[in-house]
Amino acid sequence: MIIGSKLLFFENLPSTNTHATDLLKKIDLPEGTIVYTNYQLAGRGHTRNKWESEDSKNLLISIILFPSFIKPEDQFHISMAISLWICDFLMRYIPDCSIKWPNDIYVNNDKIAGILIESSLTGNRIEFTIAGIGLNINQESFLSNAPNPISLRLLSGHNYDLRDCLNNLGSDLDKRYKQLIAGDSGDIKKEYVSKLYRLNEWHEFRDVCGIYTGRILTVGDFGRIKIEKQSGNISEYSFKETEFIL
Ligand code: BTN
Repeated sequence: MIIGSKLLFFENLPSTNTHATDLLKKIDLPEGTIVYTNYQLAGRGHTRNKWESEDSKNLLISIILFPSFIKPEDQFHISMAISLWICDFLMRYIPDCSIKWPNDIYVNNDKIAGILIESSLTGNRIEFTIAGIGLNINQESFLSNAPNPISLRLLSGHNYDLRDCLNNLGSDLDKRYKQLIAGDSGDIKKEYVSKLYRLNEWHEFRDVCGIYTGRILTVGDFGRIKIEKQSGNISEYSFKETEFIL
C-alpha cells in the first residue's frame, strides 16, 4: 500500500494541509503519509473560506503525494482521481453521491466533503502534492454559514467509527492512485464526468455577465467545465469563473 504507509496523528492542528507542508520542509516523509487530526483551529477551504468541523466528529486529513509522473498542466487528473476516491469511500455507506465541479462531494443537494489540493512545482515538475480532505462523518449540527452541509450521521441516523473510516479511505485511495500511476486518465475522466452533479440537466449558473441557464456537457483540458447555453453556444470556464445557483 502506498497510501497510509505512515500515519501521523495530532490531537489538534491549525490545519492538516499547512502542517503537512511544514513537515515536508523539515523531514523526509514517504509517499502516502497521512497527517490527520481531531480538530483544526484554522481549517482552510477554497479561496480563504474556513472549514468547519466539530472536535472528534469528522475526518480531517491530508495526504502527501509525489506525483512526479503527472505533468503540471495535467494536475486536474489528480483532482479527478481524489474526487472519485471520496465517492468510492462514501458508496460503501450510502447508495450514491456526486461531484460538484470541480471537487466538492455532494449527496443530493448537500455537501458532505471538501477537497483542497495544493501542489508545489519545481521547474516543470510537481515536487509534491498535499491532498486535504474534510469529510463530514458524525457531525449533527453545523454552525457556520456554509449553505448546505450534511454528514453520514445525518443521512443514516447512526454513528461511524472514525478509525474504521480512515482504514477504508486508505485502501480506496490506494486503488485510485495506482490507476493514476498506470496512466488511466482517460477512464478516470470518463468516470469523473459521469459522476458530475447536475450533468446534462438545465439549471441556473452565474458568470461575470449575470445569471444564465445552461447544462454541463463535460470537462475539457485543464479541468475547464463546458456548459451549453440555451442559445446553443458552448462556454468553457475555469474554477471560479462560473458558479452554480443552488
Ligand atoms: C473546500 O471545500 O473549500 C475545501 C475544504 C477542505 C478542508 C480540508 S480539512 C483537512 C484539510 N486541511 C485544511 O485546512 N483543509 C483541508
